[in-house]
Formats: sequence, C-alpha cells, structure tokens
Amino acid sequence: MAAATSHWQRRGYSVAAMRDLARARVPRPIFEFLDGGAEDERTLRRNEDGFGDIDFVPHPLTGVGPRDLSVELFGKRLELPLVIAPTGLSGLYWPDVERCAARAAAGAGAGFCLSHASICSMEELAENKASPRWMQVFVYRDRTLTRHFVERAAAAGYDALVLTVDSQLIGNRERDIRNGFTNPPHFSLGELIAMIPQAPWLWRMRRELRGVNLGNYTHAGEVTDLYTAADKLPALLDPTMSWADVDLLRSWWKGPLIVKGVLDPAEANEAVARGVDGIVVSNHGGRQLDGALASIDALPAIAERVAGRIPILLDSGVRRGSDVVKAMALGASACLIGRPHLYGLTIAGEAGVSHVLEIFRREIDRVIGLCGVATMAGVTPSLVRRAAHR
Ligand code: FNR
Repeated sequence: MAAATSHWQRRGYSVAAMRDLARARVPRPIFEFLDGGAEDERTLRRNEDGFGDIDFVPHPLTGVGPRDLSVELFGKRLELPLVIAPTGLSGLYWPDVERCAARAAAGAGAGFCLSHASICSMEELAENKASPRWMQVFVYRDRTLTRHFVERAAAAGYDALVLTVDSQLIGNRERDIRNGFTNPPHFSLGELIAMIPQAPWLWRMRRELRGVNLGNYTHAGEVTDLYTAADKLPALLDPTMSWADVDLLRSWWKGPLIVKGVLDPAEANEAVARGVDGIVVSNHGGRQLDGALASIDALPAIAERVAGRIPILLDSGVRRGSDVVKAMALGASACLIGRPHLYGLTIAGEAGVSHVLEIFRREIDRVIGLCGVATMAGVTPSLVRRAAHR
C-alpha cells in the first residue's frame, strides 16, 4: 500500500473512522441510504453487537512467526479471507464505482461480487479481468430474464453465481422515507446551498446525478436508468420464489452456485442437498427483515449442520479484523463486507477501498498473531467462546 500520507488516510485508521469520514463527504440522504437498516434497526445493531459477545481465548505460546492470511475458496486462492459484497446503487458514491472496487479487491487479493444493480454491466466489469469475480442475481417473475442474467454471467466468465434470497420484497428503510431519498437524488435549491461542505462530491458526481444507467438492465432492455429501475424492481422480483428456483439455477449454471441470505440450519442443509456449492449466512446487513437473527448468532448452528460439506461465508456487521477471525473460528471460510467498502469508495474511490482492505489485513494479521495462530486454517473453535455476560 502507498505510504499513508494524505489527511483521510491518517484519519481513517479503522472502519469506524472511515465511516465518520464518509459521513461528512456526502449529503445525509445519500449517506443514510448506505448506512441505514430496516425499521427499528434492531438487526442492524445486533449484527455488530453480536461480535462483541464473543471472546478470544488466545494461545500465545505456540511460537507463531510470520502469518499467512490466505484461504482457498471455490478453487481460487484469496490472499485475504474477504469478498466485497454486492451493493446496488453504489454509483451514487463514486464514478465508475464497481471497476474501482474490483481493482482494489484484486490488488489486495480479495474477491469481488457484482450487484445486479451495478452501474457498469457484468460484461464491462469482466473486461477488468479482476478475479475471483462473482455475479449476484435475483429470481424475477419472468424466469427468462433470470435465465438471461445467468447465461450472461457464464458468457462473461464469472467465477461464481450468487443467488440472493432475502430480498424478494424490498425492506422498509424508514431513514430513506424520512429523508425523501430517491434514485437518483433530487435536491431543492435550499438543500443544494446547505451542501456546500459536500461540494467536492456534488462536482465529482455531476454526470451521475443526472441519471446513471443500471448497466445489467440496460443490456437486458428491461429498465434504462435509475428513475425507472427504482420503480420497476419491486415489480420484477417474484415473492413466490422457492427451492424449485434454486433447482432451476442449479441446472442453468455449471460453476459454483452460492445462496446468500441463509439464517436457518435446515435451509442450509436443504441448500447442500440441492447441490448448492456455498452459502452466505446473511441478513442483508439488517436492511431487509428487521428482527432477523444476526448472522454471527446464526452461524454456529449452521456450521454444525453443514459440517464442512460446503464453504460457509458470512456477512452483516463485519467491521474489524477480529470479527472476521471470530466468524472463521465459528465455521466461516471467509467474510463479505458491504458498508465498509462503501465508506472507502465514498472517501477516495479505488484508493479508499484499498485502504479499507488494508485495515482489515493488518487487523486480521495482528489478531491471529496475538491468538497464537499462523494461518487461517489454524483459526478453530478453540480460539473463541461466548462472553461470560451472555
Ligand atoms: C446491499 N446489499 C445487497 N445485497 C445483494 O445481494 N444485492 C444488492 O444489490 C445489494 N445492495 C446493497 C446496497 C447497499 C447500500 C448495502 C449497504 C447493502 C447487501 C450486501 O450484499 C451485504 O449483505 C451487506 O451489506 C452486509 O452487511 P454489512 O457488511 O454492510 O454490515
């Protein structure tokens, strides 16, 4: 990583510090769209707090030397046990946002998952050659549109397909309602004047704010810009989605198929039985069903049920290297990060995401070193226990 000389690099020493910096750089409705959760945000809070209820039991006398943070996932080596989670509408934060984030991921040896609602199309991102590169899809009422997405991901050489199953209805994000958040955003003259501190963002995003295309849908001829996409998406999604759709995707997609949004051991078991190659224990970062189980709370029972048959990934609330190590000790093979990478993007595009990944790298490295472990394979349940106060 380049020497940490700029103001934001010095101040952004943790994900929490990056969040504070990001908050100051964009108008409130834009920041709160990124940061908020559904309804009373109980799940959002529990996602982070749940990690605090797990303690480390270090083994310092194991003679650990240099540490190796790499893991193997679906036949690819990752230098860091992290994948950038799919986040739609990231184009509100930085121009050419997904290519910036994917380059940062590749530079750090992390994976990258493109959202269905990306600004650049899956074909455009594929030209980057960043790898591993996963594509996230939904099940649409029109199964031919679903199949079209799957076939395009295959043709563009994606390494894995991620089916998100917790979003067939759009979550009730009340911060967005309160803020009058729209896609793309509209600002009154008064609001624009109040945004003088965010002038660099407004200037940088002047083209995007006139209306950015959602690349994947433009290609499919379905929707053309953020205005129509925001209106159309709920109608495109099919709430009758079921395991039969997982079977359909399994038959269409020959590579690794990952189901994202699993919180129940029985569902995890069903996914294995249906030939799914990996699951993401996730509640969508608390943005969908408020009151849903926190991912870190759901993980132990899922890991027990899956019993190593397929890799388990985890997201929602991962903010520290120690969170990644705790999740891996409890059975995850790697973690996804959503908001943390968006904080980095908001501050400095590709350099900001690289910085966030470097924060995680340093923290994971220090944590496993202090725990007395040299490799991620050495991160086992013996390193953690439930905190006494729970
Ligand atoms: C998301 N997430 C998401 N997931 C998905 O499958 N498709 C998507 O398009 C989006 N879009 C999206 C936008 C924004 C602004 C956020 C914050 C999140 C959920 C995402 O993939 C991931 O599950 C969560 O972000 C993980 O929680 P943390 O890391 O943000 O706490």
